[in-house]
Amino acid sequence: MKFFIDTANLAQIKEANDLGILDGVTTNPSLMAKEGIKGEEAILKHYKTICELVDGDISAEVLSTDFAGMVDEGKKLAAIHPNIVVKVPMIKEGVKALKWFTDNGIKTNCTLVFSAGQAILAAKAGATYVSPFIGRIDDSGWDGLELISQMRQIYSIQGFKTEILAASIRNPNHIIKCAEQGADVCTCPLDSILGLLKHPLTDIGLAKFLEDAKKM
Ligand code: E4P
Repeated sequence: MKFFIDTANLAQIKEANDLGILDGVTTNPSLMAKEGIKGEEAILKHYKTICELVDGDISAEVLSTDFAGMVDEGKKLAAIHPNIVVKVPMIKEGVKALKWFTDNGIKTNCTLVFSAGQAILAAKAGATYVSPFIGRIDDSGWDGLELISQMRQIYSIQGFKTEILAASIRNPNHIIKCAEQGADVCTCPLDSILGLLKHPLTDIGLAKFLEDAKKM
């Protein structure tokens, strides 16, 4: 399973990248706004900086909701760097845009996916990645991980090549469960990635080894 970091914060991206296990980055308009990135020039520049930091797929989201606007924006985003993946919302115009990008050799990430039906449409349109938002599904009282499992089954039976990019990760256990359910990628906040490191017995064991090492 590939690991992406889900943030537009450069310090966090660097910290995750320094671990040596990072395969890419996902952003969204909320994450970009949180970093104070404003205006087209600043947005394009920020994506370029991320591409220069991380050698992997970098998702950059379109803001238009009509086909022509999405294609226009997507072309500009894709021109920033070969690793840019154009992130397109799962709406009717978005499906048309996904197909256009597929036919024109531009990588895509279909975002805001909450059902197996939407996942089938994204795959049919040839999306490179599809992003089911498991945390938001859990938040609304449903089971996000169940969707990952259903999508894995459908994609495997049907031979869809679209990669399942589990998004809206809330904790380290989500990451473990996504790996178990066969997600191809997990995009996570930094604290969930770092949370995978933690085990009290590791800390206790290391303290004892270091203490005993003094007697060596
Ligand atoms: C995915 O690409 C989205 O940016 C993200 O995972 C959404 O997560 P949230 O539900 O924590 O906002």
